[in-house]
Amino acid sequence: ISEIKGGDDGGLGRLGQTLEVMGWVRTVRFQSSVTFIEVNDGSCLSNIQCVLSSDVEGYDQVEAGLVLTGASISVQGIVVESQGSKQKVELKADKIVLFGKSDPSFPIQKKRVTREFLRSKAHLRPRTNTFGAVARVRNALAFATHKFFQENGFVWVSSPIITASDCEGAGEQFCVTTLIPSSKETTESPLDAIPKTKEGLIDWSQDFFGKPAFLTVSGQLNAETYATSLTDVYTFGPTFRAENSNTSRHLAEFWMIEPELAFSDLDDDMACASAYLQYVVKHVLENCKEDMDFFNQWIEKGIISRLADVVEKDVVQLTYTDAVEILLKANKKFEFPVNWGCDLQSEHERYITEVAFGGHPVIIRDYPKDIKAFYMRQNDDGKTVAAMDMLVPRIGELIGGSQREERLELLESRLDELKLPKESYWWYLDLRRYGSVPHAGFGLGFERLVQYVTGMDNIRDVIPFPRTPGSAEF
Ligand code: 4AD
Ligand code: MG
Repeated sequence: ISEIKGGDDGGLGRLGQTLEVMGWVRTVRFQSSVTFIEVNDGSCLSNIQCVLSSDVEGYDQVEAGLVLTGASISVQGIVVESQGSKQKVELKADKIVLFGKSDPSFPIQKKRVTREFLRSKAHLRPRTNTFGAVARVRNALAFATHKFFQENGFVWVSSPIITASDCEGAGEQFCVTTLIPSSKETTESPLDAIPKTKEGLIDWSQDFFGKPAFLTVSGQLNAETYATSLTDVYTFGPTFRAENSNTSRHLAEFWMIEPELAFSDLDDDMACASAYLQYVVKHVLENCKEDMDFFNQWIEKGIISRLADVVEKDVVQLTYTDAVEILLKANKKFEFPVNWGCDLQSEHERYITEVAFGGHPVIIRDYPKDIKAFYMRQNDDGKTVAAMDMLVPRIGELIGGSQREERLELLESRLDELKLPKESYWWYLDLRRYGSVPHAGFGLGFERLVQYVTGMDNIRDVIPFPRTPGSAEF
């Protein structure tokens, strides 16, 4: 359908051609002499209107009431000029084939359904305009991500999903154990299959990996090993966090893009993050026009011009200390009080980007070391680290990154200070023993990017099958 209707002429260039379309029925309207069937195949937002008279081959299926909203069909016909005002062309059918019938219980009917309802129908929601558009824009953002890094000489590295280390040191990991019974006896509960010590604790030495293993919270530590070999690399894969956060910006399973740049400092890192954001936003504005018009009209009014601004203007940069200053002077009562040293909450982050900087993306740098992860490079002031977060309106933190501590002694003493198990980071410390270099990187939450670009409110609606506390259906 996008091949027919995707051009600037709305399909007029194909007048008189005989074509076949295959897709899913959106609506059926019976009129006295003809039947109109709107078909969508997901290639674009537009449907194609098929006009069927009763002498069309296969029309008996329509008459039998099997071709209803949700059914899958193919229609062969001639492209003709449409009498209606909603489209330039339509398909005057010669033949209809029914692949799979539908019936009135199909849950996604024309009447408006809420997003919440659609979350309970995640297997059918991609058949709606909104979710089809989100899927296409998400795809375009993924493509543009690879394009940006490939054009700039980065190597894509596949970081592991199962890992023994906790990159963020925040203890928000999901544990991985095998459920393979240790004996042939059938077990009542799958948990009985996990090897246990005499005291009833999990016996990790007998488990699959011989020690505790987790789903990764970030591919960064592994990416650093490749950056300190191949110079510029990036990861793009699923990450997992057992945060009990029921918000519109948190998922238990989300995709992260993590570039890592060798021979680079925090300024290089921030420049890369800004160039990346501008590149992918521009790509979507240029390549997803129909879907972006839809979001602009129905989801977030004015989003196209706000995104066009992002491409045009530099991303704002300021220090954490300056940000705290702005928040202290703000004419607003925050739920969480602000002082130097506090972790910025999403209300603070949103104030900075939405109010203080008029809705433009902002990078805050040089955060207090006590609120940041062990691997961040300590600044000379002894109080802050070379960290940066990029904040955007509605969402708050889109990107978190830093220059990494490349000095062995400082990194070791930081691990000790935080009482993290130094032994398990032996390979990470080796990178500082052999050919250590200044390096930096960042992590961008891909779903937050999709939210930002589409204007969708809830992160559950920009990933096909959201995983959140208490919910892992589908
Ligand atoms: O700020 P975070 O925790 O940084 C890291 O994991 C670093 N190791 C990244 C790096 O330097 N390579 O997470 C990075 C980003 C956040 O800015 C946010 O966009 C996203 O990941 N994120 C989440 N997205 C959805 N649901 C969650 N629960 C998220 N937690 C973080
Ligand atoms: Mg962060």
